[in-house]
Amino acid sequence: MKGIIMAGGSGTRLYPLTKAISKQILPIYDKPMIYYPLSVLMLAGIREILIISTPRDIDLFKDLLGTGRHLGIEIEYAIQDKPNGLAEAFIVGEEFIGNSSVALVLGDNIFYGTDFGHRVQEAASLEQGGIIFGCFVKDPSAYGVIEVDENEKPISIEEKPVFPKSKFAVPGLYFFDNHVVQRAKEVTPSPRGELEITSVIDQYLSRGELSVKLLGRGLAWLDTGTNESLLEASNFVEAIQKRQGLYIACIEEIAYRREYISRTQLIELARPLMKTDYGKYLMDIANEESSSVPFLFSS
Ligand code: TTP
Repeated sequence: MKGIIMAGGSGTRLYPLTKAISKQILPIYDKPMIYYPLSVLMLAGIREILIISTPRDIDLFKDLLGTGRHLGIEIEYAIQDKPNGLAEAFIVGEEFIGNSSVALVLGDNIFYGTDFGHRVQEAASLEQGGIIFGCFVKDPSAYGVIEVDENEKPISIEEKPVFPKSKFAVPGLYFFDNHVVQRAKEVTPSPRGELEITSVIDQYLSRGELSVKLLGRGLAWLDTGTNESLLEASNFVEAIQKRQGLYIACIEEIAYRREYISRTQLIELARPLMKTDYGKYLMDIANEESSSVPFLFSS
């Protein structure tokens, strides 16, 4: 399976912060926002990744993440000329996807919680159909909303409904088989002028090819599209990291624990960061006894 990070958009809800710079490069506590969705794909075991952004911002991501080789992964880049909607990921990314299945993650979504690594690894083994997630939220009307029956079978999906049929919002993480490229091409723009991901999901649903995985209380899903949620996400990450001493979305750590890079490579990555807690954390990991906290990293 390959992976795409959608890191374009216009970020108008964060103006003036994002007037001159991409939302996904802004900090969430101690690291750029894009580290979080990148870590999701890496946790899923996906090593071929396409980052899609705007003509203005794409070079920032290249500067930040390069070829990905230092993390034992391959990163490619592509441009979405205008924010025409999320389904365009599969059209812009057609060549990159080739014959593969593909995961799409939104550049401004953060996931953290028990067993999440296993859940996404499992989803990444998909060969046919599509998998989306459902997160219980207080007010789902700002999101795609999925209605499921008692066996978690999907019944309907609606984009930003005024009267949601359930409390399950669909977070920005989707897994599809290779048909997604063709199905994205069949989507017509919505009244707001976007190629909606919901329309792609709906095609899988109406063919009986969609499965929904509900994420329970143990999973935190945050999106960071407004000033309030941006600050909340930073506070959340700080609280967890300080309390547990375990980092969220530390891509170098994941690369090391997934054995994409060696201990020597990890130390090389840590060295220029030694003025920060982040760098010290990486060094601590390189120096830890391999048996010290194995249960925490099995996922
Ligand atoms: P949104 O938050 O829906 O849109 P936005 O980032 O343009 O922000 P705003 O509403 O404030 O103007 O986008 C969700 C994520 O998807 C975000 O990471 C940006 C990305 N995105 C694209 O890359 N291309 C697109 O065409 C759209 C609509 C979003």
